[in-house]
Amino acid sequence: MKNIAICASGNGSNAERISRYFQSFKDVKVRLILSNNKNAYVLERAQNLGISTFVFSREDFYHSDKVLKALLENNTDLVVLAGFLWLVPQNLLRSFPDRIINIHPALLPKYGGKGMYGDKVHKAVIDAGEKYSGITIHHVNEVYDAGKIIFQKKVKVELGETPESLAQKIHKLEYRHYPEIIEKLVKGNNG
Ligand code: GAR
Repeated sequence: MKNIAICASGNGSNAERISRYFQSFKDVKVRLILSNNKNAYVLERAQNLGISTFVFSREDFYHSDKVLKALLENNTDLVVLAGFLWLVPQNLLRSFPDRIINIHPALLPKYGGKGMYGDKVHKAVIDAGEKYSGITIHHVNEVYDAGKIIFQKKVKVELGETPESLAQKIHKLEYRHYPEIIEKLVKGNNG
């Protein structure tokens, strides 16, 4: 059995898609959904899906082994960040080498870095007049959005595109590709 843990800070639509994708699998399971925000909607989604949750504070994350302990207790094989906004600390990076991945709603290395998330990314892409945006799935390291790229997919930025319409297109791509890439990684076929 391979166990996945998902970290999300907010809405959690990717977390839900990923969890549903693996519901029918016998050998892969989303075991735990973690959040740094006790009011995040992702926690409600987790409850509806019957998946255990773990909420942690900044202090827990950066100055204790509480999160590491929760991941180890759930026999986590892969840590999946899905709309998670904090930089991952060394204790986790060391314990899960190449086993922590993130999705970013743009074509890295452009439009990444601290503070670049959600609609801010889409607005920056549109303001810069980019013809394409897309998604990037990458390994996580000690620098925001800078780990080795695993997968990218482009989408056209149309004339009159708004951050909201681009977000919708990007979410569609995320829902389609993130679960499949996670499956490959967790089964050891990629990355
Ligand atoms: C997703 O589009 C994800 O790529 C992005 O946040 C959104 C979360 O949506 N992540 C980042 O911007 C990370 N820098 P969701 O909570 O509905 O899955």
